Amino acid sequence: MHSFAYRGSELACEGVSIATLAKEYGTPLYVYSDATLTDHFTKLDRAFAPVEHQICFAMKSNSNLAVIRTLANLGSGFDTVSAGEIQRVEAAGGDPRTCVFAGVGKTEEEIAYALRKGIYSFNVESEAELSRISRVATRLKKIAPVAVRVNPNINAHTHAKITTGTYENKFGIAFEEIERVYARASRLPNLRLRGLQMHIGSQLTDVKPFRLAVQKVAPLVQKLNARYGFDFFSIGGGIGIVYQDALASGSPAWWRKPAGRKILTPDTYARTLLPLLKPLGLKVLLEPGRFLSGNAGILVTRVEFIKRTGKKHFVIVDAAMNDLIRPAFYDSYHEIVPVSKKSGRPIPSDVVGPICESGDYFAKDRPLPKVVEGDYLALLSAGAYGSVMGSNYNSRGLPTEVLVRGRKAAVVRRRQKVAAIWAQEAVAPWQ
Ligand code: LLP
Repeated sequence: MHSFAYRGSELACEGVSIATLAKEYGTPLYVYSDATLTDHFTKLDRAFAPVEHQICFAMKSNSNLAVIRTLANLGSGFDTVSAGEIQRVEAAGGDPRTCVFAGVGKTEEEIAYALRKGIYSFNVESEAELSRISRVATRLKKIAPVAVRVNPNINAHTHAKITTGTYENKFGIAFEEIERVYARASRLPNLRLRGLQMHIGSQLTDVKPFRLAVQKVAPLVQKLNARYGFDFFSIGGGIGIVYQDALASGSPAWWRKPAGRKILTPDTYARTLLPLLKPLGLKVLLEPGRFLSGNAGILVTRVEFIKRTGKKHFVIVDAAMNDLIRPAFYDSYHEIVPVSKKSGRPIPSDVVGPICESGDYFAKDRPLPKVVEGDYLALLSAGAYGSVMGSNYNSRGLPTEVLVRGRKAAVVRRRQKVAAIWAQEAVAPWQ
């Protein structure tokens, strides 16, 4: 479930009116729901209860300190991809020892930082990286816990830019190479071969590629575990969410399957994978990002102008591709709903931002009720890969972010003042 729904004719997040938040804090505005984050975490956690497991939230999807704190309080660990993200976990009061550290380009400084902080494991993406980690660990007189990321060469059938588990991608080490790489790693000093990791892609709405990948990799895990004594097997993230009809008929029950649309529930995911995972006798690590944060956030924007050209009905809003780049970057669909319900015949509308790029749009020819200047719209399912992918393009400050819990709302990121955008810049001395 998620906690964005109409109460009467007004969109609310849990017990808080979105229009009230927009008036108080201005727009563009990200609003996150504590109850949704908690619900999603709890559902996945319960589904995997039959095995020892640890959810490591992929914080690249949403690294706001308050989101991290909510999940840390629930017992989540974190899937991090930079020393900056590990520092964020600490800044949010989380424990770096619950972090795994992934990414193809870890620097020596980042490796040293992670080692000093005692992270749970490095998810290693190449042989060169194994050597580098071993070298840094030896210098620091530490033992580095490592898991190699296997590329199982399984097509996840998702968007090309978020497919990661085939040999076309830069991620992981080829399935056929893994045994040799572990043999080599076992001879490198100061490494502890702690497990194996995989991740095949993002926004998967069908369980089949997950099943195929685990089926392929599990025997390898068993073999390596017998040889090296593993602690865990990480099956990565990638559970897809509902983007379309996310608020079907004003109902919060997006869990109910809209006709013809696939929804991957935690129960289906667990029911399919647990029979393959259980016999391994290892701790299972999960790295969901979008599943936890995606439907826990919306982006609220204000209609600035309506512009009709010969062909098009443009709704120009105050949010832009710098606030939410997914439609421009991946052609992705985000449900758009008026914050105050409107009646009347829907008009095919292009919802666009103020940035000077034709790609700066949120929807094209989308049937939307007639809106006027000053109305608020909400872009749904914007909690994952929304704010984190924000930029200052066109010298636009990053939006305010609010976390709601019940009837309470707190600002968890203040709107960035425009002067902060160029605070690190200077004119050259000869100018
Ligand atoms: N683990 C690894 C190793 C990953 O590379 C990713 C995502 C995850 C876990 C989390 O995947 P999730 O559960 O969120 O699907 N910006 C794109 C998505 C990029 C995903 C990158 N890797 C988007 O907006 O759709």
